[in-house]
Amino acid sequence: AQTEDGFLEIRAQKAEQSLYPNSPRSTIWTYNGTTPGPEIRVKQGERVKVRFINELDEPSSIHWHGVRIENAMDGVSGLTQNAVKPGERFEYDFVAPDAGTYWYHAHNRSWNQVGRGPYGPLIVEEPYPTFDSEHDITLVIDDWLLDQNGQFDEGSMGMMMDWSHAGRLGNWITVNGKSMPEIDLRAGEPYRLRLINVSNARTLELDPNRFEAKILAFDGQPLPEPISMPYEPYLLSSAQRVDLLVIPKEGQDFVLEELSGNKPFPFATFRVTGKVNGAPSVPVLKPNALTEPDLNAATTHRLHITGGAMGRMGNMTYKGAPLGRQEMMQSMQFWAFNGVANLPEQQFFTAKRGETVIIEMINDTAWPHAMHVHGHHFRIEEREGSTIDEGRPWKDTFLIGPSQTTKIAFVADNPGQWLLHCHMLEHAAAGMTTWFEVV
Ligand code: C2O
Ligand code: CU
Ligand code: CU
Repeated sequence: AQTEDGFLEIRAQKAEQSLYPNSPRSTIWTYNGTTPGPEIRVKQGERVKVRFINELDEPSSIHWHGVRIENAMDGVSGLTQNAVKPGERFEYDFVAPDAGTYWYHAHNRSWNQVGRGPYGPLIVEEPYPTFDSEHDITLVIDDWLLDQNGQFDEGSMGMMMDWSHAGRLGNWITVNGKSMPEIDLRAGEPYRLRLINVSNARTLELDPNRFEAKILAFDGQPLPEPISMPYEPYLLSSAQRVDLLVIPKEGQDFVLEELSGNKPFPFATFRVTGKVNGAPSVPVLKPNALTEPDLNAATTHRLHITGGAMGRMGNMTYKGAPLGRQEMMQSMQFWAFNGVANLPEQQFFTAKRGETVIIEMINDTAWPHAMHVHGHHFRIEEREGSTIDEGRPWKDTFLIGPSQTTKIAFVADNPGQWLLHCHMLEHAAAGMTTWFEVV
């Protein structure tokens, strides 16, 4: 689908896809007719050129999650660009500076749009040989709320309960848009499984007992050495990615299983064939060259995550434009940053370019939240009661537990206006969204 001028055309459009075994196809929103949309693969340092054509009947835009991108290409409707109206187009053209596992998704009324399927993987390949295409497998994992006929449950969108509680949790999991796929692997060969959680709100609790895996990368950022699973089950929140190294054992099929529901939900089966042939040679990944935060010369910003009462009814405007009914609902305060439902019009701070920023997040709520920063990768510097951060991993999204305090740090080296929000998309819409500016 590459055009002559080197642009890949991505059309947001409605399409039919079967999400549940043997069920009739359901109308969902897609990029180029399927969910997930096409896997975009480029080499590190290459340009990504995408012509986005909006064939939906509401405005939209594409955000390139986790990419240190220039601000005008970040794809946030209403902040970094005007939403692309139905029938209109927008050209994204940027360099992918870091190798790793990223994804792209709609970023306008995201709770509503992303929940219907417009997203896809963006893989930035290392400039040196690693896992070949047979041993490099992308698994885009989504959590759908389907009705008894296996159809997308329209009535489930925008429920108050979801906004004020855990977010919209589904009842069915798909991998790469398919129910219960079977994936063939060969015994004794090293595989890179790139897991991307695109759920609106579901934190996948992955059972590592069912298979042996090491972690190669968090949120696309390769670790200096693969590490063992830091906790069990492994928690993969909405928008997080993890690259796993798996070397299947002879004759031992395994499943990926999710444990957060009432009973374990196996959602992908791996069939292992062949015989082990000598010791595997495991490709080595190198960390991306990211600028280290300087903690001794940093500015600290405190972000209290609080719950809130319903309120703020009345005539809401956003950047001067009156909001419709749907958005009125969003403006009711369920979640707040520092006591205010930080709708996107509320700026958090301004940083000078090159300055190290520490954000101390204090979760005063009884819920976990998937905190995401645009345009930068941050290190987890300090975290109460967790071992995941022993290596101070680079992340773009992390899960802050109930009552937990965490410090993240990064160099604000990317000029422009950047969102900071909870990636549980109903939470983001219900108050957990703010932004900062790098000048
Ligand atoms: Cu994937 Cu603003 O987020
Ligand atoms: Cu993002
Ligand atoms: Cu949240």
